[in-house]
Amino acid sequence: MRKQIAAANWKMNLTLQQAEQLMDELIAIPLQLTDHQVAVFGVPFPYLIPIKSKIAGKSNLSIAAQNCYNKNSGAYTGEVSAPMLKSIDVDYVILGHSERREYFEETHAMLAEKINVCFEAGLKPIFCCGEPLQIREAGTEKTYVETQLADSLFHLSAEQLTGFIIAYEPIWAIGTGKTASNEQAQEMHAHIRSVLASKYGNDIANSISILYGGSVKANNAKEIFAQPDVDGGLVGGASLVATDFAAIINSLK
Ligand code: PGA
Repeated sequence: MRKQIAAANWKMNLTLQQAEQLMDELIAIPLQLTDHQVAVFGVPFPYLIPIKSKIAGKSNLSIAAQNCYNKNSGAYTGEVSAPMLKSIDVDYVILGHSERREYFEETHAMLAEKINVCFEAGLKPIFCCGEPLQIREAGTEKTYVETQLADSLFHLSAEQLTGFIIAYEPIWAIGTGKTASNEQAQEMHAHIRSVLASKYGNDIANSISILYGGSVKANNAKEIFAQPDVDGGLVGGASLVATDFAAIINSLK
């Protein structure tokens, strides 16, 4: 079975003290993670090392950075590179979140470069895609997402895409309390998988974990994750509450 993943995206929230308290609370809750399930904590850069040490020795728990730069080193004041993240044992990097695309003007081409530097460094990207409300209302969401995939991922080899992670996050569902219906999520996830299958073949498409993101909560995770092409979630708001995120982790199939 392909990997089922509950990924927390803390965004720019919490002080270090609050972050450590959240992790202490979460770790105290029994998590039922089997071999094919992983919980990933996407934390702000300064917390990567302390949060990594909180989960040391706990199998199936990993950390993620929320971004990295598209160059490996040099005069780029304030940026963080993929080799730097690798050197502190980060496992995953969230790339192409809609907030970064919108507020920091990340383009498809820049994201393709970020994916490349992650692969060179041995980091696993969690690649986000998803359409804004006006595209959904116009009924063109499938071609919109297809372009995001084609322009940032289709230069990759079949080997690189094996076991890759994509997060489908309709922008109108992020932080709004308005989730996509189970049917809407399944329909887009199946579409993403079919686009990948036509480019790379069924075996590779079936190895890729496609997470749903956008107002995943403790009370709706199980039904969304139960959809055949939904392989877990990328969770913002609800990942900041230990009992809620633990319930979401325990909803993985
Ligand atoms: P949300 O955020 O769960 O608060 O909607 C999801 C995300 O932005 O990754």
